Amino acid sequence: MQHYDYIIVGSGIAGLYAALMARKHGTVLVLTKGSIDESNTKYAQGGIAAAVGPDDSTQQHFIDTAAAGAGLVDENAAHILTGEAPDRIADLVGFGVPFDSTDGAVQLAREGAHSVPRVLHAGGDSTGAHIELSLSALVQHSEITVLEHCLATGIVVEDGKVVGIEALDYQHGLPMQFNCRFLVLASGGAGQLYRATTNPDVATGDGIALAYAAGAEIMDMEFYQFHPTALRLPGVQPFLISEAVRGEGGVLRNGDGRRFMEDYHPQKELAPRDVVARAITAEMAAAGSDHVYLDVTHLPANLTASRFPQIYSFCGEHGLDITKEWIPVSPAAHYLMGGVRTNVWGETNVQGFYACGEVACTGVHGANRLASNSLLETVVFAKRVVERTLNGSSPTFQSREAVRLGDAYRGEVPPLTLGGLQTLMWDKVGIVRNGRDLADAIHVLSAWQAVLPEPHDRPSHELANLLICARLVAGAALIRQESRGAHHRTDFPQASDAWQRRIVFRRDANEYA
Ligand code: SIN
Repeated sequence: MQHYDYIIVGSGIAGLYAALMARKHGTVLVLTKGSIDESNTKYAQGGIAAAVGPDDSTQQHFIDTAAAGAGLVDENAAHILTGEAPDRIADLVGFGVPFDSTDGAVQLAREGAHSVPRVLHAGGDSTGAHIELSLSALVQHSEITVLEHCLATGIVVEDGKVVGIEALDYQHGLPMQFNCRFLVLASGGAGQLYRATTNPDVATGDGIALAYAAGAEIMDMEFYQFHPTALRLPGVQPFLISEAVRGEGGVLRNGDGRRFMEDYHPQKELAPRDVVARAITAEMAAAGSDHVYLDVTHLPANLTASRFPQIYSFCGEHGLDITKEWIPVSPAAHYLMGGVRTNVWGETNVQGFYACGEVACTGVHGANRLASNSLLETVVFAKRVVERTLNGSSPTFQSREAVRLGDAYRGEVPPLTLGGLQTLMWDKVGIVRNGRDLADAIHVLSAWQAVLPEPHDRPSHELANLLICARLVAGAALIRQESRGAHHRTDFPQASDAWQRRIVFRRDANEYA
């Protein structure tokens, strides 16, 4: 069996950056489900936040991060995130990421809930694609081993320590196993939980499901972020219309053409993302419509086309000239704040097992992530993971009180399909929730779990992983009897001091959810 010092699962920015850091210290295998450059990272448009501007400070970035997170941000993690951001940007520049600049000064964009322009971008609205391209080129020209089209199917734990990973070369139906000293999970998010998502097909929550099965703690799963503005055109997959578009002056209008965000929040279109997503949902419900509009027709056409070339051309390909017509938009599932619980060194409760990026949960985003803190989080915490593996001291992770998922039970439910699961999650565990819908959803999910066949290929593994993630999201959402950040319940519409705490799942916990 092959042995590596580091096995990194996932090839988005978190995995590739971790690999580039780790290669100096041992042998590295990057295992990735698709091709090396297929990940959520590639689709990130807006950019990466860092206090590098003359009118900014890391303290102000921290304040904005904490405010967006609605009282649940882990302050230590947020100080690290914002404080280390400028150095990590310098690393990315060193890796060849071509951030946009004017006369040598980096361009900084405004996004929702940031008090100053703070978001670096590349290729206008193609930041993620540029990062992915730069890092994957470096990885491919290095001594790092990359296995593409290989799905991780199990984390091997012996005597409480991770010793390796099981995987499936699904193109050839070949099971594989690798040993390692350190496992770094960087497998991204779970947008495919929902019917409408900005995420690519690969975002099926694999890492969270594997980690839960391996006994890792899973935290904050009730906090799923819906991006307010995804393109809504019949027959077209939701396509992200970056928050940076509103940052440049784009305004939201309802079907009557009225600019409505001033009814909801003093920061209007640049209110925190959860506020804007709910406002749009309310406007759509009031009008019986499936979209509102994002209007940039008042901006100079050449600015729109040059600042947002990807959005401009994608809409153009679908017959929409955004310099002249309003863009139909609606919210779509975008980012999971929760995930595999780690400390600020990326350590989990299982020795030798680290996580970073969207799959991980340090608590840094609290109940609602600040725009463009996600790419930042990946590099800040990936770097710390590798540092931690070097100093050899015993783990510093402190476990939390946890619950486990209830047993699956048989019931009368329709057969499980991916579409059925996504619709259930959208309808009953979506942007606005209530206890009855959540309980209904849990009933169906548990009954699906009871009859789930043993997974054997990529689709069946992905569906099984999504089902576990769905149960974790719905379970946590039912437990949290309040509204906070991205978790909004009509039966508990206010935030409650009693709920200024976190929900953690662990498979071997004594209590059921
Ligand atoms: C966007 O460009 O609006 C998405 C950026 C993010 O999710 O932070």
